[in-house]
Amino acid sequence: MNTRIAVMHGVNLDQLGRRDPEHYPAVTLMELEVQVKRWAVELGFEPSFFQTNHEGEFCEELHQAGETQDGILLNPGAWTHYSWAIRDALEIAALPTVEVHLSAVDEREEWRRVSVVRDLCVGTVQGKGVDGYREALEILKGRLDG
Ligand code: DQA
Repeated sequence: MNTRIAVMHGVNLDQLGRRDPEHYPAVTLMELEVQVKRWAVELGFEPSFFQTNHEGEFCEELHQAGETQDGILLNPGAWTHYSWAIRDALEIAALPTVEVHLSAVDEREEWRRVSVVRDLCVGTVQGKGVDGYREALEILKGRLDG
């Protein structure tokens, strides 16, 4: 059976394509997901995709992922920086998780340098745009195969 991974995008990531071009690539979320799916399948993953702007829904998806998935690729958007509820839900899911950000969060505003999920993750990729997702998938693969 293929390794199942959840690719989860949080708040405002459905607005990719309309976001500040200084920090975000000119792709829509759907285009990003098509590319990530291609890479994931190449690496032998069975990916599923989720995005919401509602924090409780994101938590509920994490609860379910804990029962149905083998790993998580996580971009919680701005929730990264302050959502203790999402941190708790990620802890409940208890799956190898890679945190990924399109932009270089550690080089932007002070408040973006805080990640409340980072220490629960097996790796973090940031500032590499769409290609960062490929790197994140490879980290997850190394972790799940090893
Ligand atoms: C983001 C970075 C966050 O600071 C921001 O709030 C986002 C997207 C990224 O992918 O670079 O919405 O997670």
